[in-house]
Amino acid sequence: MKQRLLIKSILEDKIVSQEATVKGWVRSVRKTKNFSFVVLNDGSTLKTLQVIVDSHLPNYENISTMLSGTSVSITGKLAPSQGKGQNIEMQAQLVDIIGTVDNTYPLQKKATSLEFLRENAHLRSRTNTFNAVFRIRHHLSYATHQFFHDRGFYYLHTPIITSQDCEGAGEMFRISTFDMLNPPKKENGEIDWSKDYFGQEANLTVSGQLAAECYALGMNAVYTFGPTFRSEDSNTSRHLAEFWMIEPEVAFADLEDMANLSSEYLKYLISHVFKHCMDELEFLAKFYCDKEGNKNHLESLRHVLESEFVKITYTEAIDILQKSGKKFEYRPDWGVDLQTEHERYLTEKHFKLPVIVMDYPKDIKAFYMKQNPDGKTVRGMDVLVPGVGELMGGAQREDDYQALERRMDEMNMNKKDLWWYLDLRKFGSAPHAGFGLGFERAVMYITGMSNIRDVIAFPRYPQNAEF
Ligand code: 4AD
Repeated sequence: MKQRLLIKSILEDKIVSQEATVKGWVRSVRKTKNFSFVVLNDGSTLKTLQVIVDSHLPNYENISTMLSGTSVSITGKLAPSQGKGQNIEMQAQLVDIIGTVDNTYPLQKKATSLEFLRENAHLRSRTNTFNAVFRIRHHLSYATHQFFHDRGFYYLHTPIITSQDCEGAGEMFRISTFDMLNPPKKENGEIDWSKDYFGQEANLTVSGQLAAECYALGMNAVYTFGPTFRSEDSNTSRHLAEFWMIEPEVAFADLEDMANLSSEYLKYLISHVFKHCMDELEFLAKFYCDKEGNKNHLESLRHVLESEFVKITYTEAIDILQKSGKKFEYRPDWGVDLQTEHERYLTEKHFKLPVIVMDYPKDIKAFYMKQNPDGKTVRGMDVLVPGVGELMGGAQREDDYQALERRMDEMNMNKKDLWWYLDLRKFGSAPHAGFGLGFERAVMYITGMSNIRDVIAFPRYPQNAEF
């Protein structure tokens, strides 16, 4: 067997007049009198390689009747193509059929819906759509590390098992080794968590932020990139129970610095995939965005690269919504949390650009956000983008010991559990700030895919943990 080459490198490096082996999955077989044309994809590119199989090959009968989805190893000579539409083809010398398929193979040639592919998530990587989405996802992940590394951030692995509810929303998955039918109880009948594995209640993390703050106040700038879990009962196209979040945290920085970092980061992601995944972006735009009436998906991403993000306060956002004349399902009164319909109006209709909303009412935000002198708002921000709504959420953190303690008391929080978090404000406290970007929402925004379940390998959501 000759050296195995990937189709991507054969086509990109224009490798011809050489013998090679390719391995992959058959997309189609077309039989003529003296030849068969086998179209092969190996997952390295959206492009396929056409292989010409002469009827003199000893196992020709089996080759010419291969079904789409069969896995093969083919050795042959690469040559400039005679046919239209491609530059290089292979003249097969040896075709080894590795894995056959039968007619129960779910991915037949006819177009398959995204819903159908979700039910066959173990096979959907064989389609062009998922090949494209997951190649872009890979590049966005790589670009994230490159972006932060180049700016002096350190990658921090924060715990997945934690006793904290960073966001205070109570949307946590419990971790326990107790026999659920018979947990140890205290005299008053309550469950005795001190007898559990960790000697206290423990959960899957909803955010690595509190741990990242500890390391930012020592290493200056860190970021996390890890799995995040929320048990919110949101069965929507934008929510997952398990998703990935990137959380930069920076010492000696304020909210304005985070607004600037967030826009620089998002632009970096877009320009990186423009450079490395144009085929994939164009394919997805053609089949998904343009179909849904968003004819200019790539154009609007390009426009974002050249534009300043809009920065407004929450109070200004409410004013715009109230004056819009639009009938929203939820009335945009000052003090309410912005709903997706409000967020999308601001970013898609009003500004047609990413919008950074800052200075939210303190009662709708987490305890750790720095309080503004007005006593009503906090230095929190959300970054809203067209097609998705909220993509990032962040804040300048309360770095004043007394102010933080007061806020925790007002919110009836248990200060004992967060003694170490308060300590940060006691010993060499410094202004610091950070944000979290929902990775799947970024993949949705850039690929133009409209359901978050199609941008993560195996989505977890209420009533679903299959595969
Ligand atoms: O706005 P959130 O809740 O912010 C935090 O967790 C902060 N601790 C981040 C920080 O300051 N370090 O979440 C951040 C982002 C959201 O903007 C959204 O993109 C994403 O995480 N997100 C989800 N993505 C998918 N499914 C869910 N259930 C999500 N919940 C939040």
